[in-house]
This record gives sequence, structure tokens and C-alpha cells, in this order.
Amino acid sequence: MCGIVGYIGKKDTSKILLDGLKDLEYRGYDSAGIAILQNSKFDIFKAVGKIANLEEKINLQYCLPCSTKETISLGIGHTRWATHGKPTELNAHPHLGEYSYVVHNGIIENYKELKEELTFAGHKFVSQTDTEVIVHLFEYYNNKLNDPKASFAKTVERLEGAYSILLITKSEPETIYFMKHGSPLIVAKGKEEGEVLFASSDSPLIGLSDAVVYLEDGVMGIASTTAITFNQEVSWGTLPSSKQFAQKDGFRFFMEKEIYEQSDVVTDAMLGRLKDNGIDFDEIDPSIIDGINEIKICACGTSYHAGLTSSYLFERLAKVRTSVEIASEFRYKEPLLTPDTLFIVISQSGETADTLEALKMAKAAGLKSIAICNVDNSSMTRVADATILTRAGIEKGVASTKAFSTQTVVLWMLGLYFAKVRGVMESDKLASELLALRETPKALKVFDHIHEKTKRLSKRYLHGHGFFFIGRDVFFPLALEGALKLKEISYLHAEGYPAGEMKHGPIALADPELFTIALMPQNLLYDKIKSNVEELSARDSTICAISPLAFDLADDFIKTNSADHYMLEFFEMLVAIQLLSMEISVRLGNDVDMPRNLAKSVTVE
Ligand code: G6P
Repeated sequence: MCGIVGYIGKKDTSKILLDGLKDLEYRGYDSAGIAILQNSKFDIFKAVGKIANLEEKINLQYCLPCSTKETISLGIGHTRWATHGKPTELNAHPHLGEYSYVVHNGIIENYKELKEELTFAGHKFVSQTDTEVIVHLFEYYNNKLNDPKASFAKTVERLEGAYSILLITKSEPETIYFMKHGSPLIVAKGKEEGEVLFASSDSPLIGLSDAVVYLEDGVMGIASTTAITFNQEVSWGTLPSSKQFAQKDGFRFFMEKEIYEQSDVVTDAMLGRLKDNGIDFDEIDPSIIDGINEIKICACGTSYHAGLTSSYLFERLAKVRTSVEIASEFRYKEPLLTPDTLFIVISQSGETADTLEALKMAKAAGLKSIAICNVDNSSMTRVADATILTRAGIEKGVASTKAFSTQTVVLWMLGLYFAKVRGVMESDKLASELLALRETPKALKVFDHIHEKTKRLSKRYLHGHGFFFIGRDVFFPLALEGALKLKEISYLHAEGYPAGEMKHGPIALADPELFTIALMPQNLLYDKIKSNVEELSARDSTICAISPLAFDLADDFIKTNSADHYMLEFFEMLVAIQLLSMEISVRLGNDVDMPRNLAKSVTVE
């Protein structure tokens, strides 16, 4: 995972690297570091935690702008999500050998063997990271060959796993070696003569460059002030003209703002797609569903929950057999893939390594594919046959909220679109679904009384030995999502469970210290879930019912509005569980937007 940046040019290198890292902080914030090479001298800064800590350190100790800034300098930077070795300064990138520095995004799977080999050859390692082998391997070859270009090529030849790498050496003050394999990397020409930039995603480059290459796997090269050379043909493209900035706009946290935004962004997600008489997606050809007998959905985290929700909708509405897979499981189970299956990946970032690889596998097996993504131009959008953008806007909170609601709305629309194309839905049924879709923005509005209620409940729902979120049908994936939100930001143990399955084991945990959040919609299996909750209540579990209908046995009650479609209830309850998790996290004094150990975009498997 992690984010990397690089720069060659005459501008303030430390500022460009720091600004770039701030844009990439969503990729990890366990530690950060930069290495700057100027006048044959390296300056290195590393700090544990967020980029702000690194910035503080640099501001205290360094003054590159005051130094001779008519000369070229170069630098590489990194923001880390720890995979190998604790988040300490020692393990922070850039990693040093004798005379070269490297930053790396990904995982070197054979690092142990390489480390042994290099240690035997006399190399000294100081960190516990997999990354450090890269710089030693490079120096091992370069000490023999005295040819950095050939040595870099030999180094990457030995690496197994996924990696994007930037490497600089003391003897070449205007050169950055780069390689992309598995993890994303973009190279850009700066606006000034001879300027070169690198970044893991395009946002750090916007405004600084007009010509970029989104590198494909296997591309490596050398960048300097005079030329950027590649080992294969590449195509240059452009960037969006302006950077989207997310501001808190008076909200306490980005997560809070993003919960409140859901009503608006689902409106955007439906714009031009929800028509009077049906659903239209300009992005896909109706023939994509021709000859399709099955849909397979693959995703991770919250996006997986949106996928699971849609599997109920695809089968119910479009009458297509649908299965959903967690991408990291799918990749190694030797799945049986047949070309009559439509493969759908769902991802906010479009970069999640496991989902991306799953998509590549499906493509290689000849399946047609659709990517449901929030980030245009991301890796998945470039691999899939078609992309439907979710139009949620920048999501900054690590705990995903509006990405989920927009994904779910897009998938619901896709189910209706397929239903129409396949001719399996009566027109009055379609009309009532369209009517419900139009009400979605209203269902996602945050009502003051609901927010207040969750604030009050957060006083009590702090201790105990765990939470169960329970629901049936689409409210089961919603229960999973509720439990995930709570785990992510409050660090309390929570599980999402199908309500009817509690009696097959988990009910043994029931006692007053077990908090059950029961999703009890009026329009779907109400009597069934009611019985399941009664069973828990009879065993003294503390029950918080989320429902439009009052329920005598509940200890607490979040009253949602009456709606006449279960999906509208779904979205109302979504808002309630998001707010409840957030308020519990606030009460516990946690960092709501950047919870410990997590990252927004996971580009390692
Ligand atoms: C990380 C994030 C989650 C997200 C998951 C999948 O774990 O913290 O919020 O749901 O990745 O990300 P994607 O970008 O593929 O939706």
C-alpha cells in the first residue's frame, strides 16, 4: 500500500513532495519520509504518524527555498501503511543503502530469501521492512557492474510481488529510476523545462503537469531533466484541469460531512440515468447482458457489502443468478469462470489490489466486465470493459459512507436496467421501483432527531462485550456494514449477522452486556425479524431496534420514517447506523476520519 511521490526540477522540492504526500495520505498514515538530493548531498526526513508530523520536522530543520534554488534538485517521498515492520522511523521510507535511496509501494514477497542472500554477501539491514532489500539488491549489482541502469533492471528482475519503485543514487543528481508492477504509478512532465514528477495517483500532479503516463505493469524507465525513457512504448495523456478539494464545511469530521452529503450525491448518481420510463446507462451497451446467465460480483470491505446487497436485487429484479465474492478469497480459490458470466467489480478507489487482480483474472478468462467506481481514471476503470462512475465526489473519511450509498443506488439501477433489457419486469413493477428510487435522496437525509438520538445512545453503548448488528435479506449486508463501521472507528468488537442464523450459535453470547442493533424494516420480513429479536430479548440481550414500528421489547429505539419500499428503509437505517458508529467513536475520543491501523485505499493484497 502506501503512496509515493518524486520530483526533479528547480522548484522547492520539499514543498512539492510534502504537498503530494498530503494528497496521498488516504493511502496510509503510519509514517512518512522524504529524501532530497542537492549538490551531491542527501537530506533525509522521517516521522511517525501523519504527514503533518513530517512537515513540522522539515519546517523546523530545513530551508531549501532559502538555499540555491536555481540548481536542480530531486527528491522522493513516501507515506506508509505498515505491512512489514512496525510503524517506526526506522521502518519509514525512503530506505538507504550505501549511496542510494528507494521508496516503494507494494509488497516484495520474496524479501526474506533476498535478505538472507544479501546479508550473506555483507549487506547490513537496519529495518524490518521488505523494501530495504530493493536498495541493497540494487547496490549489490551496481557494485559489480558499475552500471546503474543495468543494475536497476537486474534488481527488478529478482523481485516477486507487487511494487512501484522510485530509486535515486548519490552519483546521479538528476536521475530517478522507476518501475511499476502491480501497484499504481504515474510519471508526468512538469510545466517547466526539464521538470519531472511521479505520484501514485493523479491528484498530486494536477496543476503541475499537462502530460502524464499512467504506467502499465511491467513498465520501467529512467527520468532525468533531459529525457524520460521507458522499456516499452507508452502513451501520454492529460490530467483533469483542476483538483477537487474536500473541505469540512463546518462539520466536525469529514465522515460527518460525507454522511450529510449522501442525499445530494445519490441525486448526482441518478442524474441522466433515472428516466421517466426506465433506467439508462450511456456508459454500457445493452448487449453486455446478451448471453449472460450469471453475474459474479467481486469487491472488498464496504464495497463488498454493496455487492452483497445488490446480489439480492439482481436476482429479485433482473432474475439473473448472482454470486458475490470477497476479492482476496476469489483470487486463490481457482474459480470456475465461464464466458456466460458478467463480472462486476465494485470499488470506491478503483485501486484496491485484490479487486483489481480479480478483475484482471476475469478478463483473462474472457468474461465481460463492468467496474462500478468512484474515481475516474483509476486502474479498474482502465481494465474493465465498461465503467459506471458512482459520482460520490471525494470521500476523505477512511470509514466509507457516501461511497456505499452511491454504489448501492447505482447497483439497484443496474438491476432495473438489466430487468428491462431482459424483459423480465412488468411495467407497473418497474414504475413502482422507479418511484422508490426517486425517493432515495429523501431517505438519505439526516434528520435532527435521529442524529440527536444516536448522540444520546452513544453514552450507553460504549461498554459491554460486543455488538451484534442483525438483519435479514438486504438488511443482512446492511448489518455487516453497520458492524464494520463500528469496528473501524470505535475499535469495539462488532459482528453483522443474519438475524435468522443467531440461534445457530451466536445466541449463546446473549446477556445484558451484549448489544444487539436490530434492523427491523416494515416492508420486508418484519414478523420474521421480530421473532428473532424476541429470542434475543428473552435471553436478556440489550436491544436497540431501528425501525419505523415501535417494538415493546426493545431497550432503545431509533424510529425511522415509514416508507413504502424496503430499499428506502434500507437507506434510512444506513444513516442511523453510520451516525451511531460515529457518535460512539467521538465519545471514545478516537480519530474519526483517520482511525488507527487503516488506510483509505489498500493497494497491497
Ligand atoms: C479499505 C477501506 C474501506 C474500503 C475498502 C475497499 O479497507 O478502508 O473503507 O471499503 O478498502 O476499498 P475500495 O476502494 O475498493 O472500495
